[in-house]
Amino acid sequence: MSYKSGRHFLQIPGPTNVPYRVLQAMAVPTIDHRGPEFNNLCKEVLEGVKRIFKTSSPVVIYPSSGTGAWEAALVNTLSPGDRVLMFETGHFATLWYNMARKLGLDVDFVPGDWRSGVDPGVVESKLADDRGHSIKAVAMVHNETSTGVTSKVAGVRQAIDRVGHPALLLVDTISSLGSIDYRHDEWGVDVTVGCSQKGLMLPPGLGFNAVGPKASAASETARLPRSFWDWSPVIAANREGFTPYTPATNLLFGLREALMMLEEEGLENVFARHDRHAEATRRAVKAWGLEVLCSKPEEYSSSLTAVMMPEGFDADAFRRLALEKFDMSLGTGLTKLKGKVFRIGHLGDLNDLTLIGALAGVEMSLDLAAVPHSGGGVAEAMNYLLL
Ligand SMILES: Cc1ncc(COP(=O)(O)O)c(C=O)c1O
Repeated sequence: MSYKSGRHFLQIPGPTNVPYRVLQAMAVPTIDHRGPEFNNLCKEVLEGVKRIFKTSSPVVIYPSSGTGAWEAALVNTLSPGDRVLMFETGHFATLWYNMARKLGLDVDFVPGDWRSGVDPGVVESKLADDRGHSIKAVAMVHNETSTGVTSKVAGVRQAIDRVGHPALLLVDTISSLGSIDYRHDEWGVDVTVGCSQKGLMLPPGLGFNAVGPKASAASETARLPRSFWDWSPVIAANREGFTPYTPATNLLFGLREALMMLEEEGLENVFARHDRHAEATRRAVKAWGLEVLCSKPEEYSSSLTAVMMPEGFDADAFRRLALEKFDMSLGTGLTKLKGKVFRIGHLGDLNDLTLIGALAGVEMSLDLAAVPHSGGGVAEAMNYLLL
């Protein structure tokens, strides 16, 4: 191992770059989580995080990754054998489906092409056919991190309402929260699942459930076994500004700082910044003559872009080259997409020059790997950012 000068470019779609302010906020001695200082911190972050989810309902924070928060959403609201409607939008939607099956739920998993999002029309017809209301929940991934496709949560809500179906709406916002417009209350979402290491600019280690009133009511009769993930002791302790078990104290210091930063920039400006960087990235991809995996422009993700490798070229060999030559990590293709795509993360703590640096790394790596492409992608992105 030898020292590599300059900053590593972490351009995967999460974990994202942790800003210096957040790192500094966490670099403090761990405090007594049953004392007054923690009490203030806990109350502050519990209130602050609601503004990011755009909810007035409680947000439960677990010391966990996003997968834990998925499990919490299911076990708190559902009972063994309950029917759930899910959509195969990509790798993460498939993992959530596998979890639901393992937990003993009866899942209708609507097949997908891994290039497009949830079709509200299918939600509507599936629910319209369910006259007995045996489907208890619709669970969807807002931003499919494996494909760079963003589904329309508001459209799915409207589809559920059009047929007057009482199913709960559970939404994974793991790679959209704090990056792409999201509104828990306004869109009538019952449980929103999130985590720390993407738009919130924190290291991994916090999982979130925003819990709407209908989900809260469902948790009173839900019978899937739960203990650690049980919302009720957490929400009860949170009311007093504490947690029922040892929290990830230093991550909460980081969360307080990250919330401040997002609000200083303004959440709507944060979303606009992500939209702009995503557009610049897609213009570069187009100029290279490569194809974006997402097949519907209205579903393009603002937090990442998955780029298809030309036939006969291995996306992972290309990624290895980018790492060796330019110290840049790009996202790998997951399961079905292994070797076929690479993903450029453009979410979290990013500015124009970081993005241009990342795109320059991609363009130079395309040259080095002799991947057939046209030049000028970076120039296209630069021109767009100058507009
Ligand atoms: C959309 C989505 N859902 C779920 C997960 C799983 O989260 P974790 O790896 O933090 O458990 C990820 C991870 O990247 C994700 O992107």
